[in-house]
Amino acid sequence: MVMITYKDENYACDKDETVLACLLRHKVFVPNACQSGVCQSCMMKAVQGTPPKVSQTGLKDTLVVQNHFLACICKPEEDLEVSLYDASKDWMLAEVLENSLLNESVIRLRLKPRHKIDYVAGQFINIKGQDGQTIRSYSLASLPTEDYLELHIKRVPDGLVSSYLHDVVGVGDSLSIMGASGDCFYTNREQGQPLLMIGVGTGLAPLHGVMRDALAKGHTGSISVYHGSLATAGLYYIDELRHLADEHPSVSYTPCVLHGDAPEGGQQGDIQQIVKTYFPSLEGYRVYVCGDPQMVDAIKKQCFMSGASMANIYSDPFDFS
Ligand SMILES: Cc1cc2nc3c(=O)[nH]c(=O)nc-3n(C[C@H](O)[C@H](O)[C@H](O)COP(=O)(O)OP(=O)(O)OC[C@H]3O[C@@H](n4cnc5c(N)ncnc54)[C@H](O)[C@@H]3O)c2cc1C
Ligand code: FES
Repeated sequence: MVMITYKDENYACDKDETVLACLLRHKVFVPNACQSGVCQSCMMKAVQGTPPKVSQTGLKDTLVVQNHFLACICKPEEDLEVSLYDASKDWMLAEVLENSLLNESVIRLRLKPRHKIDYVAGQFINIKGQDGQTIRSYSLASLPTEDYLELHIKRVPDGLVSSYLHDVVGVGDSLSIMGASGDCFYTNREQGQPLLMIGVGTGLAPLHGVMRDALAKGHTGSISVYHGSLATAGLYYIDELRHLADEHPSVSYTPCVLHGDAPEGGQQGDIQQIVKTYFPSLEGYRVYVCGDPQMVDAIKKQCFMSGASMANIYSDPFDFS
């Protein structure tokens, strides 16, 4: 059994237990959100001992050399003395410019950060909830060239942060934000490559940024956008996406609903089946999949089985704890 030392107290870490799980079990609070190594809100530093390499996945090399690690994916192999990462310098205030409904359960937030955020379209930021401690990640639908950050936020029943953003936060309020992170974005390495983008629910948010970024960077290959929802009422940006497809012959947009009639120009059925039917071979494609984690996982596997190489599959699963 290994020991975790934090603020001069020792905590026994069970076999296969993560540092985060161990500290939370001992009622020691550590900021966290996704609990799956994505959002980086649980970052800590090993003051003594070496964290396993895998717990540093996705961290900047400058953080790795300083022994930082993600507590939620760190199963220590030796005793570690740890400290909290001083995230205070990374957080900043952002003013709410707009909070409006995109459909009955999704809002669009537009924010003006106090300082310019360096990001690539498709990355995500972290936001603190009303208690100043709870942290959640939200994908950026905006482009860095736009003078606001745009987020699409779905109401989760009894959700701490999504309810706060839907019901409490208004224009002129300030939010604490940090970012950006994530690797689900466009790079112009092969501009003629066909792109397939599949977003479920607010999984459209990062894709709205990625597709416009690809066009702005002169992508010449086709861009096929599939947006899935349970019913038509769950879709949004229908007119915007149709307009984008009208303006750019390389872009096609297919709204998909599981229940009810197919929307105009769209499909009815399981989005995974629809993609399988229309893209039996994805050899040479670059695929982006975002939204519900189970759906993202299933679609990724299917795209791989249909011939897309793993190096050409980018995903943003909206993991929750
Ligand atoms: C990288 C990343 C990007 C994300 N981007 C977006 C985005 O652009 N838009 C967006 O709306 N969300 C996004 N999310 C999800 C978001 O971070 C929160 O998880 C979500 O808003 C719920 O937080 P909450 O505090 O409202 O609910 P919580 O208080 O965390 O949860 C309340 C209850 O609902 C359950 N729950 C939480 N989320 C879900 C869910 N999706 N489905 C079913 N049950 C759930 C919880 O297990 C809990 O029981 C993203 C997540 C990640 C990791
Ligand atoms: S990376 Fe650890 S909680 Fe998100």
